[in-house]
Amino acid sequence: MKKKTKVNEKIQLELRKFVAPEYIFGINARLLAGNFCHNLGGKKVLIVTDSGIIKTTWLNDVENSLIQSGIGYCIFSSVSPNPRDYEVMEGVECYRNNKCDIILALGGGSVLDAAKGIGIVSTNHLPISNFEGVDKIGHPMPPLICIPTTGGTAADVSQFAIINNWGERYKMAIISKSVVPDVALIDPETLTSMDSFLTACTGLDALSHAFEAYVSNASSAVTDLYAIEAIRLIHSNLLDSCNNPGDLQLRGKIMLSSLYAGLAFSNASLGCVHSLAHSLGGYLDLPHGECNAILLPHVVDFNFNSVPDRYITIAKTLGIAISGLNEIQVKNSLIHYLKQFNQSLGINSSLSDKKVTSSDIPVLSEKAIKDPCNATNPKPPVKRDLEVIYSEAM
Ligand SMILES: [Fe+2]
Repeated sequence: MKKKTKVNEKIQLELRKFVAPEYIFGINARLLAGNFCHNLGGKKVLIVTDSGIIKTTWLNDVENSLIQSGIGYCIFSSVSPNPRDYEVMEGVECYRNNKCDIILALGGGSVLDAAKGIGIVSTNHLPISNFEGVDKIGHPMPPLICIPTTGGTAADVSQFAIINNWGERYKMAIISKSVVPDVALIDPETLTSMDSFLTACTGLDALSHAFEAYVSNASSAVTDLYAIEAIRLIHSNLLDSCNNPGDLQLRGKIMLSSLYAGLAFSNASLGCVHSLAHSLGGYLDLPHGECNAILLPHVVDFNFNSVPDRYITIAKTLGIAISGLNEIQVKNSLIHYLKQFNQSLGINSSLSDKKVTSSDIPVLSEKAIKDPCNATNPKPPVKRDLEVIYSEAM
């Protein structure tokens, strides 16, 4: 017998927009770099990358593609993990001195964010700190092509750029449609150069994106689709992808989950996991994905009772047996799952293992409460709430 559609199921009717760049997903997408530079009218490319990617063959592949298309290029590779404001300014100098007219970012989230920063400053002629916040960019960036080499950040499709304000030791969140790249070349083969720790950290970053987008107060029916499918794919494939680094099917599924989570959070925005992680990453220069992984169970604990139905759907997607459980038991099962999942991936640390001390918490919370990601957290936090979450994650 045909199953009836639930008559009481409501859909989101508030106004929502959805922004995504053109993207090409699949093996060898990176080899299209020359074609897309040509299509975008580029004559001289600034390739933004880092010292790790220079040692892989991905850069040679991109260079050959540019040469075949008759496009000139120069390389800027002075980008640190948690990219710094002064590195953005050095990149802008390189862009201007070499008379570039297009930017290609090849790397993880730090490289992609640095490239966005270079693009913003090169056309707006002001320090990068002037663009912190939502919709602060006056003039469009030069054309930007992104080729991600990690599966989690999704900066290649997102409206976010995160730059470390090195003097003041916090991460500036720049959120604008203007930082969405012109094209993303999303090639799962590039993930084979990640070790298992980086695979775990970046995959858990993607999981945090999907969680935060799904419970965000700016979520929509469209972002929900992407967020839930990202959670399902990460749950089913991240551990196997860590253990089988050369398996392109598994790498493909993780790259796809990163893309899905990216499309979800770019449009629904994030929450307290990211406001707390941005503050930690900027103050103590810690890996972003690892910070998120440590914080996510504690933020679920904080948020759960404001959107229990949303977390119950997540728990079901993760295959957690919830039949007969009350809301508090579902919450505890979900938190237990997340801690176990972290452990299975080799992420066993707490914040104190990462050298965070209780005396750091007031300053970390002071910085975190100013982060724009708090605005879409399902439960609006006050500074004291953030202090408590940090303390519980110690
Ligand atoms: Fe993130």
